[in-house]
Amino acid sequence: MKRNVSEMPFCVPQRSRARNIQQLFRTQRPLMTQEFATTHDRIAGDQVHSGQVFPLSITCVSPDSGLAAACDWVSGQRDELVRLSSEHGAILFRGFPLQYDHDFDQFVAAFRFTNFPYQESLSNAVRINRTERVFTANETPSDVRILLHHEMAQTPVYPSRLFFFCEQPAEGGGETPLCRSDVLLDRLRERRPEFARKCEERGLQYSNVMPAAADADSGMGRSWKSTFRAEDRRAAEEQMWSLGYSWEWLDDGSLRATTPALPAVMGLPSGRQTFFNQLIAAAGGWKDIRNDPSKAITFGDGTPIDLDDIAIAVEISNELTFDLAWQQGDVTLVDNLVTMHGRRPFTGTRKLLASLVAMDAH
Ligand code: FE2
Repeated sequence: MKRNVSEMPFCVPQRSRARNIQQLFRTQRPLMTQEFATTHDRIAGDQVHSGQVFPLSITCVSPDSGLAAACDWVSGQRDELVRLSSEHGAILFRGFPLQYDHDFDQFVAAFRFTNFPYQESLSNAVRINRTERVFTANETPSDVRILLHHEMAQTPVYPSRLFFFCEQPAEGGGETPLCRSDVLLDRLRERRPEFARKCEERGLQYSNVMPAAADADSGMGRSWKSTFRAEDRRAAEEQMWSLGYSWEWLDDGSLRATTPALPAVMGLPSGRQTFFNQLIAAAGGWKDIRNDPSKAITFGDGTPIDLDDIAIAVEISNELTFDLAWQQGDVTLVDNLVTMHGRRPFTGTRKLLASLVAMDAH
């Protein structure tokens, strides 16, 4: 099943090299306005896929201009930045004059996207709003690793893009792993063609147990009342019925909800395809006192997935992962259809905020 190509891996064929060098050069031109200047820089460990640097890094070289000038710059460059974020999969904005949540809110607002409020999402995570469009990325304890995923790909409604903002980096660790799913799909088709074909044809189905009350000790501890914005069981059931879910109420008041078959491969406007699903996180990370990852995911027709196939997908994703080491003030714009993200464990206090963009906003 497709929700609606492939990128070459690190080795670029000779005949494409000249064109790709031109593309690289093009993306490194400074974007300048009268008051505000930026450069495109390479950062340690970044990758190149078919001539596109991943992630693209844009550095502010006039930080004294202040937040208003930065937002004016974003507003003026908006269409180009949106295009670059889709082409490259993610953009890191570094050295921009942002310090606190309200700065981040204004920076995001300058893109003029439609906000996707956390409250309206079916996200499993516990999050705390700072402003209407800005919330903490995840309240999960610092020693928990969050595996690679596309935001809310396990639900029928997901954001098209997401922003992260580093208000305070961790003392140690806390990187955000990023992985290009279009490249992953190419490699999966090479190494496990039958598995890739089954994913595409059958889709995937997800099942998880939601607690009766929020459980901040779990990465998937959001209560069913909050998830479905329901005061009681009947209201939750109405929501699930409208979404095509099946469900089971458990003795402790928790809820096992199972999605309908959801597509596992996404077609993009560019003609590329991505491995847009929650396979890696669900099969390896949906684990808490209520949830067992071995029961979290099947093909869309309910048939089991071979663990060896999952292991190969994880292996490829590890090969393709770029770890973003945060600096205070960093903002990253991630195309959620192209790039997966996660979280490394950390020590100390880490304040990473997020903001989501509605699907109809391009
Ligand atoms: Fe996430």
